[in-house]
Amino acid sequence: MNAAVRAVVRMGLYVGAKVYFIHEGYQGMVDGGENIEEASWESVSSMLQVGGTVIGSARCKEFRSHEGRLKAAHNLVLQGITNLCVIGGDGSLTGANLFREEWSGLLTELVDQGLIEADAVQKYSALHIVGMVGSIDNDFCGTDMTIGTDSALHRIIEVVDAIMTTAQSHQRTFVLEVMGRHCGYLALVSALACGADWVLIPEMPPEDGWEDKMCQKLSATRSRGTRLNIIIVAEGAIDRHGTPITSGIVKDLVVKCLGFDTRVTILGHVQRGGTPSAFDRILASRMGVEAVLALLETTANTPACVVSLRGNQSVRLPLMECVQMTQEVQRAMDGKRFEEAVKLRGRSFENNLRTYKLLAHRKPESELPVVSQPLTFPENSDRAVSS
Ligand code: F6P
Repeated sequence: MNAAVRAVVRMGLYVGAKVYFIHEGYQGMVDGGENIEEASWESVSSMLQVGGTVIGSARCKEFRSHEGRLKAAHNLVLQGITNLCVIGGDGSLTGANLFREEWSGLLTELVDQGLIEADAVQKYSALHIVGMVGSIDNDFCGTDMTIGTDSALHRIIEVVDAIMTTAQSHQRTFVLEVMGRHCGYLALVSALACGADWVLIPEMPPEDGWEDKMCQKLSATRSRGTRLNIIIVAEGAIDRHGTPITSGIVKDLVVKCLGFDTRVTILGHVQRGGTPSAFDRILASRMGVEAVLALLETTANTPACVVSLRGNQSVRLPLMECVQMTQEVQRAMDGKRFEEAVKLRGRSFENNLRTYKLLAHRKPESELPVVSQPLTFPENSDRAVSS
């Protein structure tokens, strides 16, 4: 996120704006005072390589209340701030949109309470907002990647590679739990990147009877000479009935059915820390620049937008449409419409899932096709290999 902060500050200064940090997220906006601090070019030096966010972040209950937003509006008007760049997940971005919608009403209330001059309503008549999605879960519809996901993925893969040393030497099975309370992206792409034997994600729970299938798969790989097994479980993994599948359940199953020496590793907040990847730094820098451009072009009548990555291009999409679609994924999962949930996550999620399945599950000889025709790749019909 620091790369995004840096980009917004520097691009803002470049276009002649005054730029402010709001420390500690919405809490800082509600509390005001020293939390709102003018930024300079130098104040964002040497932060690209630092993880997290140097301006702080906080979950803020107060901003969810009208009173909290009134205080926040007051603090912004005191500094003459009418443009906001918000980096967060769908909750933070929805909050920003509500704040924007309420803005003129909030200013009128502040005038009524004698907290601001009457002419401020006219002077600061509209609040412009732009969103950037910061979430390691890559759980926001409309963007191919969210800020932080790639760094988290790197961390996970480092850990899996390290764990494989023990797994290989001791012929063990490792069950690795990765973050993703509601989204299986990290679990899925980690499984793809490290060649895991099995992956469990909330969007596509395994068919009933998965326990036997998984054990058969693990046992088949061992009988072919593999010395280890890796199973990746998303924090929010569930079965077809919505019952959580925890890493502990998976471990007990492997031990009970196969007697394999099995360990669980829960990666936890390790995934959210450390040095950001080059991809994340570049992504956030580009998004920050685009966010400032978006603010410059916003009018009171333009719907709030979120800066997204589409096919390696920064694009602006209507914020609330993306939020609604993101929430639709959860509704689809809650309603056990799993195919729909995968579709709603987007094409690249679908492709990752398809690719994982293709590469992780060996077909029995009897099911292999007799290849006499050119083979077409399922996801790219324009590419073909000849037999
Ligand atoms: O950002 C979302 C997330 O990464 C989830 O996948 C995870 O469950 C959660 O954050 C953990 O958040 P907290 O730090 O509040 O425990």
